[in-house]
This record gives sequence, structure tokens and C-alpha cells, in this order.
Amino acid sequence: MYIRLMNNIIKNIPSFWPHDWPFNDIVKRLPDTGRLLEIGPYLGKSTATWAQEFQQNGKDWQIHTIDAFEGIKKAWPGMEHLQITEEEHLEKFKSNISGWDNITWEKTRWTPEYKGFREYDVLFYDGLHDYESVNKVLEHYINVECIVVDDYDIQHEGTMQAVDEFYNSLPWPKEIEQINIEDKGIAVIWRK
Ligand SMILES: C[S@@+](CC[C@H](N)C(=O)[O-])C[C@H]1O[C@@H](n2cnc3c(N)ncnc32)[C@H](O)[C@@H]1O
Repeated sequence: MYIRLMNNIIKNIPSFWPHDWPFNDIVKRLPDTGRLLEIGPYLGKSTATWAQEFQQNGKDWQIHTIDAFEGIKKAWPGMEHLQITEEEHLEKFKSNISGWDNITWEKTRWTPEYKGFREYDVLFYDGLHDYESVNKVLEHYINVECIVVDDYDIQHEGTMQAVDEFYNSLPWPKEIEQINIEDKGIAVIWRK
């Protein structure tokens, strides 16, 4: 009953991804404790989904999430309902993740000069999806054990190129998977 209620609350968080986030299989394969960094929560649907999956799988993970929280001034056609002012952005996010005491957040536009903690076990990236943005972030988090990158699909060639180059450059044993759901692809890179 409680799980169904939580799932419905998460489903109703406005998001650029209108379906359920497919994180369950990833979470099942992760250790019982760890730290996840998310870049690009928007209003927190992906953040709350990670938290919910960790809880349902009995795992004790800390989630830190970074967003510019500058609002979405001009969404592309068909997505206008996701436009939001800067004033509303952070407030709505905070309300959507309230109750999860393992989620911390930071209002920052991530750049390569970002000096925050970087020893995470998992990185979930869902910020800008052009080649340069994805490439810079991945380089920064090379030591992360599991990297999950949204929009690894033919509609986002820059993301695919950055992920593939990064993956091929890793000097240690590794594995890459592509989760395909509806018309979306998500890359999951595991350090073996
Ligand atoms: C596609 S939305 C994320 C959707 C979200 N994961 C969800 O479940 O709905 C992209 C988000 O990334 C944020 N963003 C883009 N570039 C960023 C950067 N350099 N630093 C921090 N946040 C960024 C935007 O503010 C926006 O909220």
C-alpha cells in the first residue's frame, strides 16, 4: 500500500521522461551501501526513483544531486508544460523530494571547475546531452564504479559519441550495457 502510494507520487512528478525510470536492475546489482551523484534532477523524478529503488531493495545509499535550478525558460515544442521559472524550480524540487533524508542537493551549474566531492560509487548524468557537456563530466568522474548516462540513443549522437570515447579510453576491465525503453536509450558502464 505504502509502496504503491510512493510510486504514484513519483509518477506524478513532472519530467522530461514521462514513464517510469528503469533503475531497478541497476540497483539490484549494487552493493548494500554507497554514494550516488546525480547531475540534472530537474524536479526530482529520477532522484526520488533512485531513492525508492534503494529503499525497496533494502540498500542504504546516500544520493547527492546537483542542478542549476535556473528554471526551464523555453522547452521544445510539445514540452511547453515543463517550462518553469527559476523561482519555482528549486521550491518544487524540494517539495518533490521531501521525506527522503538520504537525498542532499546543491544549486550549482556544473562545470569542469566544480570542486565538490567526487569519490562516488555511481554517477547518474541527465544534464545537457551535447558532446562537449557529456565528455567533460565523464572525464571528471573517471574513478566512479558505475556510470549511468541518460539519452544514449541515436537521437542524441553527441551523448553516444562522448560515452563511447570515454568507455574505449578506460584502461581497466569494464562492461557497457544499453537499456532500451520506449524510444530512449540509457548507457550503463560498469567497472569490473
Ligand atoms: C532533462 S532535465 C533532467 C530530468 C530529470 N532527470 C527527471 O527525472 O525529470 C535536465 C536538467 O539538467 C539541469 N542541468 C543542465 N545542465 C546542467 C549543469 N551544467 N549543471 C547542473 N544542472 C544542469 C537542468 O537545469 C535540468 O533541470
